[in-house]
Amino acid sequence: MIKSILVINGLVKKGGNTDFLLRQFLNCGDFQIKEIVLRDAKITHCTNCEYCLKHNGKCCFDDDMKVIFDYSNSCDYLAIASPIVFGNTSGYISNAVSRFQSAYRYSNSSSLPKVGKPKKAVIILTGGGSGGKSAMAEKTTRLFAKMLNAKSIEFITSYNTDKIESKDDAAAMDKINIMQKEWINT
Ligand SMILES: Cc1cc2nc3c(=O)[nH]c(=O)nc-3n(C[C@H](O)[C@H](O)[C@H](O)COP(=O)(O)O)c2cc1C
Repeated sequence: MIKSILVINGLVKKGGNTDFLLRQFLNCGDFQIKEIVLRDAKITHCTNCEYCLKHNGKCCFDDDMKVIFDYSNSCDYLAIASPIVFGNTSGYISNAVSRFQSAYRYSNSSSLPKVGKPKKAVIILTGGGSGGKSAMAEKTTRLFAKMLNAKSIEFITSYNTDKIESKDDAAAMDKINIMQKEWINT
C-alpha cells in the first residue's frame, strides 16, 4: 500500500530556500502527498473565544485546519517546513499551531493534545541574516509535530542562506538523502 505524507508548508516565498528543500525532500519516491500551503489556505488564528469549552472541544472556525486534522488521522508521515522569521517560524505556522488550543483546553489535561495516528516527522527550517539556529522555531515546529502525534522528529536545517543558498548547502542535502532513504525503507 502506498504510504502518505501530510505536508504543512509554512513558506513565505514560493520557490525560495524553504520551498527548494521541501521539493527536494518530497521527490523521494512513491508516496501519496497531501500538501497544505498555509499561505494559500484559509486558517484563522485562535481568538480565545472559548466556544470549544462549551461545545465538546469543537472549534468555532470551520476552515482548512479541518483538512490538517482529517489528514493527520490517516497519513503515515508528516513534513513541516518554514523559514525563520525574526527568530521564530513564519506567521503562517504560528497561526495554525494556535488552533490546537481547542483540543488543549477541552481535554482538561496539562499534557499536549495528540491529533491523528502515530507518525514520523521531518521538519525543514531555513534561516539567514542573523545566522545560527533558532531554538524558538525548532520548539514551535516540534510542538506542532508532537500535537499531530509525531513519535519521531528529525530536522533538516539550512541556517546560513545569506551566505550559502540551500541548494548549495551540502549538509542539508546530505540530511535529505539520509531521511529519504529512511522513509523509503520503513
Ligand atoms: C521578515 C524576515 C525576517 C527574518 N528573520 C530572520 C531571523 O530572525 N533569523 C534568521 O536566521 N533569518 C531570518 N530571515 C532570513 C530568512 O529566514 C532566510 O532568508 C530564509 O532562507 C528565507 O527562506 P525562503 O527563501 O524560503 O523565503 C528573515 C527573513 C525575513 C524576510
